[in-house]
Amino acid sequence: ARSIDLAVIPGDGIGPEVVAEGLKVLTAVLPRDVKLETTAYDLGAARWHATGETLPDADLGRLKGHDAILLGAIGDPSVPSGVLERGLLLKLRFAFDHYVNLRPSRLFPNTATPLAGRPDIDFVVVREGTEGPYVGNGGSMRTGTPAEVATEVSINTAYGVERVVRDAFERAAARPARKLTLVHKNNVLVHAGHLWKNTVDRVGAEYPQVTTDYLHVDAATIFFVTQPERFDVIVTDNLFGDILTDLAAAVTGGIGLAASGNINPTGTYPSMFEPVHGSAPDIAGTGKADPTATVLSVALLLRHLGHEAEAARVEDAVTADLAERDAATPRTTVETGDALARRVAR
Ligand code: IPM
Ligand code: MN
Repeated sequence: ARSIDLAVIPGDGIGPEVVAEGLKVLTAVLPRDVKLETTAYDLGAARWHATGETLPDADLGRLKGHDAILLGAIGDPSVPSGVLERGLLLKLRFAFDHYVNLRPSRLFPNTATPLAGRPDIDFVVVREGTEGPYVGNGGSMRTGTPAEVATEVSINTAYGVERVVRDAFERAAARPARKLTLVHKNNVLVHAGHLWKNTVDRVGAEYPQVTTDYLHVDAATIFFVTQPERFDVIVTDNLFGDILTDLAAAVTGGIGLAASGNINPTGTYPSMFEPVHGSAPDIAGTGKADPTATVLSVALLLRHLGHEAEAARVEDAVTADLAERDAATPRTTVETGDALARRVAR
C-alpha cells in the first residue's frame, strides 16, 4: 500500500519509550511516497485510573478502522493483576481474531545468550492466539473455602486448530528447511492433543514437501536449549506458545530482542505488532529499555503490509547494529533508536 494508517497504543511502563523508537525507525525506512499516518490511543494503566475503562467499544470500533496496530506494553503494578491483561491486551487479540501469534527467534550476533556460537538458530513459533486456556472458560466453586474447586477449561475447536495449523504449514512450505513441529502434551491432554495431532496429520497430507514432527512440550523445552537448530516452524496452542516463546527469547539473545505479530490473516481486522516483553516498570523512565524488540516488531508489521524490502532492511540494520554493540558501554533507548534509524535511512 502507498499509505499506512497506523494505530499506536504506547501503553504502560517502557511502552511509550520503545514505541517512540519503533516509529522513528518506521518513518526512516519508508520510501517518501508511502504516507504514514499515526493515531495514538490512550489505553492502559493511566486510562484505567482516570476512567475505570480498559477498552471501551468506542475505542475498539475506531481501532478496527486502521491498517495495523503497534503496541508497546501493557501492565502496571498499580493495577490489579489481570485487569489490563484480560481487559485490554487479550480483548484486542480476541476481538480482532488474531489467531496467528507469530513469534520468530533468530540467534543474532554478539548477544548475551547461553547458545552464543551455536549453529544458526532460526525458527518461528506459530502460537494459536484465540483459544486454549486463554478464553476464560472455567470457574470456581466454594471460593475461598478449604473446599474450593477451580477449573480453567482449554477450548480447542476443529475450526480454530485447523486454521492456525494451515497457516503454519503455509509458512513452513515457504521456508528453506520446510519443517513443521507440533508441540503439545498429547500423552496427558488426550482430548485436545488428539485434535491437534489429527489436524496436523490431515492437513500435512496436503503438504508432502513439509516434514512434520511432534514433541511433547516438556521435551521441547529441553531441545530449545540443547538442540535449537532442529526447529523451523513450530505450531502450538496459546499457553504452550506463551511459555515456549519466553524461553526462545531467553536462549536467543534475551527478551529485549523478541518481536511478535498478532495476526488476523484474513485481513478482516487489523493485525497488531508488539514486543514480547512487558512494561518493565522497574526501568521505566530510566532510558535503559532496549527498543530493538519493538523495532523488529515494526519489521513484522512492514512485512505484513507488503513492504518486504523495508522489513528486510530493518532486520538487516538490527543484525549489523548488534554486531557492533559493545556490552561494556550500554546505550540509551533513544541512542539505539537513533542508530537503527540512521542505518535504515535512505
Ligand atoms: C505475552 C504476554 C501475555 C500472554 C500476557 C500479558 C497476557 O505474556 O504476550 O506473551 O500471556 O499472552
Ligand atoms: Mn508471554
